[in-house]
Amino acid sequence: MTHAIRAMEAGDLAAVERIFRAHASGDAPRGRRRQLRDRVAEVLGADAHERAVALVAADARGKVAGYLVGDVRSWEFGSAPAGWIFALGVDPKAERQGLGSELLAAAVEAFRARGIGTVRTMVRRDDVPTLRFFRSGGFAAGPYVEMELARGAR
Ligand SMILES: CC(C)(COP(=O)(O)OP(=O)(O)OC[C@H]1O[C@@H](n2cnc3c(N)ncnc32)[C@H](O)[C@@H]1OP(=O)(O)O)[C@@H](O)C(=O)NCCC(=O)NCCS
Repeated sequence: MTHAIRAMEAGDLAAVERIFRAHASGDAPRGRRRQLRDRVAEVLGADAHERAVALVAADARGKVAGYLVGDVRSWEFGSAPAGWIFALGVDPKAERQGLGSELLAAAVEAFRARGIGTVRTMVRRDDVPTLRFFRSGGFAAGPYVEMELARGAR
């Protein structure tokens, strides 16, 4: 079935969460789901309109099979604003049909239309399928390396 990419609406949240849950089982899903819900509410809010890119892929009957949430931000102090892909998911039943690539291309275009040519995202280094996906979309390692200090809480 063919899909169209359109702007995300508040009524899409249930479908977005359904797709998110389908991929997140056993991986602290509740906290991350709340984070996703908060971020979607934020990007759909009037204040974020200029910065946000929130898209869904829907079939002819309106069923949502994929989503992408991103915004424009300066991540590092002093760095130029870049487009950030915060979340991207495709219904497992609709994977490997090009929907993720279509959502990504539409987001890159939306950022470009705002004058933003650099788009970034964060992927776990052991998540090979997602790394392959972004590489297939033209992404490569960027100029920053994430560093962390992980001490147990007292
Ligand atoms: C990553 C994801 C968005 C890809 O969506 P998709 O619609 O299946 O991707 P596409 O069909 O556009 O794939 C484009 C290319 O990416 C690569 N790719 C995608 N999924 C892959 C996988 N599981 N393994 C290896 N390569 C993969 C392939 O090169 C593919 O081209 P091909 O099918 O012609 O070989 C989807 O698998 C997903 O929702 N994953 C779980 C959620 C997630 O981890 N999101 C990303 C971080 S927020």
